[in-house]
Amino acid sequence: MSYPRIDLDGATIAITGAARGIGLATAKAFVEQGAFVALGDLDEALAVQAAAEIGDHAIGHALDVTDKASYTAFLDATAQWRGPLDVLVNNAGVMPNGAFLEQSDRIDQLTMDVNVYGVIHGMRLALPGMVARGYGHVVNVASLAGKFPIKGLAVYNASKYAVVGLTAATRLEMDATGVSVSAVLPSAVRTELSSGIDYGILPAVDPEDIAAAVVRTVRTRAAETAVPGYVGVLANASGLVPEPVMRALRKVANDDAAITRVDDNARRVYLDRIEKQ
Ligand SMILES: NC(=O)c1ccc[n+]([C@@H]2O[C@H](COP(=O)([O-])OP(=O)(O)OC[C@H]3O[C@@H](n4cnc5c(N)ncnc54)[C@H](O)[C@@H]3O)[C@@H](O)[C@H]2O)c1
Repeated sequence: MSYPRIDLDGATIAITGAARGIGLATAKAFVEQGAFVALGDLDEALAVQAAAEIGDHAIGHALDVTDKASYTAFLDATAQWRGPLDVLVNNAGVMPNGAFLEQSDRIDQLTMDVNVYGVIHGMRLALPGMVARGYGHVVNVASLAGKFPIKGLAVYNASKYAVVGLTAATRLEMDATGVSVSAVLPSAVRTELSSGIDYGILPAVDPEDIAAAVVRTVRTRAAETAVPGYVGVLANASGLVPEPVMRALRKVANDDAAITRVDDNARRVYLDRIEKQ
């Protein structure tokens, strides 16, 4: 596979869920390379404020990735601002935690709508223009939870497995078009989304580490980039480990952290935010 080189200096980039966390760090990392970045977020005021703080290489825009009309308006505004889209980062996501039997239908639906349909809408809207130009790159921010089941994150797991599959299949369909589709798979990242959960031995990284990985994919066009990389290798290898051995290893690693090792007060702010979406 070979793809036309994307020069980030002056490139037009759209990032979803970019008002805070990984999306915001990614916007800053792209601007450092000379790109122009549209920050879309459900929290319009925060997106506009974040863009103003970045400077004239950024704009903030209202966006609900679950609503195709809203996503269309975001991409239209981006194109009017800076011309055709070079890179799309589907980053917006929600992560409710708790025992599967205790989660509500509404939150299940929200998780699938944002994490899966948000990515589908983004690709359906952005890919045709990229294919017509024979040039462009889509990065879907999935998760290691798209490769490795975690107690207390069952529906989130389902949504991220979906994104991993969706990315892999669309990447194949885009062969010979000049357009690449990549997935970035973070481990635990220190953002509001993971606040209050003590993952124990699972390595935690900073949003800037994921941002650097997203930017790197513009050069590597790698199918999957896990952060940290070795956790991706372990997650892939875990499928080959016999179940009794895996269960014993899981016990040592406190694999029910997302249910039992939760600081409810610290977590409440985040859960309240997504409950109101
Ligand atoms: N933080 C982690 O531990 C972690 C680990 C692996 C993967 N991820 C993934 O990284 C991505 C970003 O997560 P984060 O940690 O930065 O989360 P975050 O909660 O800090 O930021 C997510 C942003 O997405 C926005 N958003 C939510 N729903 C939206 C919608 N419908 N339309 C538009 N914007 C919406 C929120 O307003 C928020 O600003 C998510 O897809 C998440 O699943 C995070």
